Amino acid sequence: MTTQRVFSGIQPTGVAHLGNFLGAIKNYVRMQDGHDAVYCIVDLHAVTVPQDPAELRASTLRMGQLLMAAGLDPERCILFVQSQVPQHSQLGWLMETTVSYGELSRMTQFKDKSDRNEFISSALFTYPALQAADILLYDTNFVPVGDDQRQHLELARDAAQRFNSRFGETFVVPEHVIPPVAARIMDLQRPNDKMSKSAEAENGVVMILEDLKSIEKKFKRAVTDSEDEVRFDRENKPGISNLLEILSAVTDKNPVVLAEDYTQYGQLKIDTAEAVISVLQPIQERFAELAADPAETQRLLTIGAEKAREIASVVYERARNNMGFL
Ligand code: TRP
Repeated sequence: MTTQRVFSGIQPTGVAHLGNFLGAIKNYVRMQDGHDAVYCIVDLHAVTVPQDPAELRASTLRMGQLLMAAGLDPERCILFVQSQVPQHSQLGWLMETTVSYGELSRMTQFKDKSDRNEFISSALFTYPALQAADILLYDTNFVPVGDDQRQHLELARDAAQRFNSRFGETFVVPEHVIPPVAARIMDLQRPNDKMSKSAEAENGVVMILEDLKSIEKKFKRAVTDSEDEVRFDRENKPGISNLLEILSAVTDKNPVVLAEDYTQYGQLKIDTAEAVISVLQPIQERFAELAADPAETQRLLTIGAEKAREIASVVYERARNNMGFL
């Protein structure tokens, strides 16, 4: 059996929080084994909304360092920056000819983002065509992304099939996989809302690179409820269930079973904070080492881009040829 290829794209902007780590990054780390894993920091997607150049450069590097610190190992996966592999923009253009205006108009992420921005770039509109190109360039079998990307994934599949039927077998049609342990981490202060970097209640969001003392405090202050029973019940006990979910995601144990160990909210908070700190501390240490030597991260990302280009150039050539370019 040949190894299946997985591909995922990660936005470089914004500082990553615990929800990103437990919901996505941890799975990327896990999938390095047993798969042929390709991970792309999608800076070309980031510029579909206005970005400050210096900040973009810094956050792209920082995301590379963070992903490596979290366990993406350039020896076991391909980790690279999208703009360093020109085939992404090149195939992106070809994919723009393969998806329709109507399809792009129905994308809910475009509607959300265009409501939030004053300058709506045409790239924001065609964003899903570039995303399709990202995936198709690597003969990808599986794309492990959250449910919010379902619509983009469907479009990528449709585009691949349409291209294949117009121009002959060119692309592997990718499948969406909801990651096996996609933890849904909620805000510690508003446990009915997803933990999100744009959340107003900063006390509810734990950052991967946050000071450990501050993390401890946030868990101690996490919103619970006026009962005193520890049980996993998302609907009636969102705060406690979120703590259990976090503890579960960190320890790989079942939240319902974990709940049986507790009679007190206080102890659950202490243990959850401790468990989170025990995984974040080594990540923070590795991050500090990498951050002290940015040239080394850049070197590793360059090697990643070279490996990516080897695969992408073959697939791009196939598409170019089949479409009839001289
Ligand atoms: N659109 C994705 C997001 O916002 C990022 C992304 C870009 C991506 N290209 C991709 C994800 C290809 C999966 C595959 O999170």
